[in-house]
Amino acid sequence: MARMNRQWLIAERPNNRTLQATDFTWTTTEARSPGPGEVLVRTLYLSCDPSQKGQMENIGGYAAPTEIGDVMRAGGIGEIVESNDPSLKPGDKVVGAMGWQEYLTTPAPTLLKVGDDELLTEHLGALGGVGMTAYFGLSKLGRPFPGDTVVVTGAAGATGSVAGQIAKIAGCRVIGIAGGPDKCRWLTDELGFDAAIDYKAGDVIPKVRAAAPGGIDVLWDNVGGQLLDDLMGEIALYARIVICGGIARYEAEVLPPGPTNYFNLIFKRATMHGLLVIDYQSEFPAARIRIANWIRAGRIKTRQDVQVGLENAPTTLMRVFSGANTGKQLLKVA
Ligand SMILES: NC(=O)c1ccc[n+]([C@@H]2O[C@H](COP(=O)([O-])OP(=O)(O)OC[C@H]3O[C@@H](n4cnc5c(N)ncnc54)[C@H](OP(=O)(O)O)[C@@H]3O)[C@@H](O)[C@H]2O)c1
Repeated sequence: MARMNRQWLIAERPNNRTLQATDFTWTTTEARSPGPGEVLVRTLYLSCDPSQKGQMENIGGYAAPTEIGDVMRAGGIGEIVESNDPSLKPGDKVVGAMGWQEYLTTPAPTLLKVGDDELLTEHLGALGGVGMTAYFGLSKLGRPFPGDTVVVTGAAGATGSVAGQIAKIAGCRVIGIAGGPDKCRWLTDELGFDAAIDYKAGDVIPKVRAAAPGGIDVLWDNVGGQLLDDLMGEIALYARIVICGGIARYEAEVLPPGPTNYFNLIFKRATMHGLLVIDYQSEFPAARIRIANWIRAGRIKTRQDVQVGLENAPTTLMRVFSGANTGKQLLKVA
């Protein structure tokens, strides 16, 4: 039976500007029947990640290049509809590179089979790329010691909220920086952060000094720009700065200049390390088990911001740039 497959294609590259709905075109095609060793998957949920914009722009060189007219890339959770491979059967739930479309036809080994349980959607959050980023970025690069002061920017987002909670589990004092009082309340009242600072209310650095009088031992940065520069002035001796992301620059027309406070790396004998989560792929399975145990034990709490309908994919992705999301931004497709 032919299945119609609604898709979003890349129409424009959004370099040096905000992402717009017109950067995508909406089309309908016929889903391809699976060949030998292939499966047909129906998309259930899509992950919305700031890095998707960078992939449209072909920056970084760490992912295969995109072309105008390609199906918009996205990780997602799907359900097997037809299978020509013994490892997967109809009804199985999988995680894979679903793209912004209703159906994907792909070789079975490109998919990860996951449990159809209460943690299903966590495979796009704390058990997915953002959880792996938080876990490995902190343990391998941040290397927190009990009693360390950890500052997380973009703290109420998917990655930051998990990174901060893992730092709490490691026995650290954790300060989150996020946009707005509701996000800050969520961090302190529900996630157990020791302090939260609303950067939109101003006076960030005096508030950081008050919350971290001994300086910052681990700086987890999701934001970059002026905030990173200012925080670099507040690091402690032997601080570790983990550069996870720089969302303040992702939509900038002109890139901000480099941090003027970088000389503090010398004075404080500190390190600043770039993180790319794919480097730790071979260790993901063990980390997934550990984080799942923490979620089940209530030691890591998550929030998922779920929008509905494939037709809303562009506006849902835009939410992570405007800060409309708290926790993990997802799109429910089916
Ligand atoms: N290196 C890696 O391997 C890796 C892997 C995954 C993610 N990342 C990076 O991690 C960061 C977070 O990604 P995520 O998927 O977890 O997204 P997210 O944090 O759930 O969503 C993005 C958040 O960024 C904040 N934001 C947006 N524009 C901002 C600005 N100009 N200044 C300050 N904050 C701003 C918003 O929160 P507010 O309301 O608080 O502003 C928004 O909710 C991104 O930079 C991403 O590129 C890196």
